[in-house]
Amino acid sequence: MAPTSALYGSSPDVSRRILDDIEHQFSLDKDDLIRITSQFLEDFKLGLSEYNHPMAMIPTFVTGVPDGTETGTFLALDLGGTNLRVCEVELLGNQEFVLRQQKYKVSEALKTGEATTLFDYLADSVDAFLTEFASAVPASPTAEQANPFASPSLNDLPDPTVPLGLTFSFPVEQTALNRGKVLTWTKGFAAKNAIGNDVVQLLQDAFDRKHLHVRCVALVNDTVGALLSRAYTSGGCVLGSIFGTGTNGAFVERVENIRKLGDSPARQKGGYMVVNTEWGAFNNTRTVLPTTPYDNKVDRESINPRLQAFEKFISGMYLGEITRNVLLSLIDAAPKPLLFNGRSSKQLNTHYGLDTAVMSEVEEAWEVGRTPIVPINHDTPKEKAAPNGVVVDTASDVPNWQSAHFTDVDALSSEDIARLERIRSVIIQRLDIDAENVSLRDAAIVRWASSLVANRAAKLSGCAVAAVLVQTERAKLGGGFATDEPRISIGVDGSLIQHYPNFNARLRESLRELVGLEVEKKVDIGLAKDGSGVGAALCALQATKQGH
Ligand code: GLC
Repeated sequence: MAPTSALYGSSPDVSRRILDDIEHQFSLDKDDLIRITSQFLEDFKLGLSEYNHPMAMIPTFVTGVPDGTETGTFLALDLGGTNLRVCEVELLGNQEFVLRQQKYKVSEALKTGEATTLFDYLADSVDAFLTEFASAVPASPTAEQANPFASPSLNDLPDPTVPLGLTFSFPVEQTALNRGKVLTWTKGFAAKNAIGNDVVQLLQDAFDRKHLHVRCVALVNDTVGALLSRAYTSGGCVLGSIFGTGTNGAFVERVENIRKLGDSPARQKGGYMVVNTEWGAFNNTRTVLPTTPYDNKVDRESINPRLQAFEKFISGMYLGEITRNVLLSLIDAAPKPLLFNGRSSKQLNTHYGLDTAVMSEVEEAWEVGRTPIVPINHDTPKEKAAPNGVVVDTASDVPNWQSAHFTDVDALSSEDIARLERIRSVIIQRLDIDAENVSLRDAAIVRWASSLVANRAAKLSGCAVAAVLVQTERAKLGGGFATDEPRISIGVDGSLIQHYPNFNARLRESLRELVGLEVEKKVDIGLAKDGSGVGAALCALQATKQGH
């Protein structure tokens, strides 16, 4: 049976004030959201007109999106998420594909050692994959189409070279589909002697050192991969975005707006180009981001202080750490502790010791059966049958969850008590806090803290999405205008948007506040299934067509 300490020895007023104050620091009202989104739009413009801005707005040289008719078989290598993945992707040309993949671990030593060691490891993984898993690569595209993804003749590739697309999910200043210099590392990577070097060359050199008949023909960010793969499977897409270990977005922009391309041939050609925003670096100066002391601590102790500010408010790599800081402050609260009888654990005292997945488990224990789930669209356009997903993503399904902390556990229903008991077990097991120090009220507070941090993350994510809709003239900030398009397709990937309870619903709610119900209803947030693999394959296809 859980201890039922109700008020921790502090007077109710004091404990309430402390919790109210924290809640206030994490709250964002409509005006805040509008201010943040306006700043986003300014930063988009700056990044499109000049190089060397934190919001890098990187031209990708991908000049259109696929339509699902593309065919061919390609290798893809994906570095930048939780795992390294090597895949063989067969594009079937009917909006479908077959993908076989193998995941490999990237150790901390590889992430922070010499770049050549990291790239040798990538080459070894491709070698191992080819030996063990891949079938009949090299590629054999067939049909000829009028878009940049139209299948090339691959006869000009030195046979039997295998074309490979690299998904490299870090900021890279691209100068062509298959060229780009590493600008900076993010998400805990810090390999030496990579910054400023061409990432395709670093990989190709590693392949050549190992005498592999593999040629890296295209370089793509995971957001671009998400955009392309969602376009391939669902017939069009305006934004590809990741809400996972990191966060970022890529969208289709008019080339004339990418002023920093000057009068280069790419700009003269006009038309459209996918731009990788690198929005994780939005507002590094933190003039509009709602920074709390808990965020400052995360930033100060991170591997890249003062960088990737937006990402540190949003992504899976950091949410657990922000929440850990909030919980520790309650354990240490004066004049009396407000959590776990003032006791912590080795786990909770460890830097990054609270995984965002634990927050997710806590919120799931609370939400299941309470609010309708608002899933992302797991399949092709809504008109079609959705064999592996329920299609529900309209605004009316957004639940109205309770985010306030609890003051009176005794007044809760028996169902809610059972939910708190489940949360209590998660805390005991995953945070290793002694059972005797975890009351039901503690469980409620951990749930409250998790939802504050995740809710803020989702609302800020809504600002990023809204900024893209306004930038591409599909919406007006504050509402009052909606594009004629019946559907605005957004491809997403990442653990938060896929698995964190209500992240999608909370994002949509923020979007609705920013651009109005009319636009929000048209937004189809769909899973970019295997975006990194399929996107890299589609780019490899475009590159081979261009003769790279
Ligand atoms: C980081 C990277 C970015 C990537 C994102 C999602 O923000 O800088 O390139 O797209 O994480 O993985």
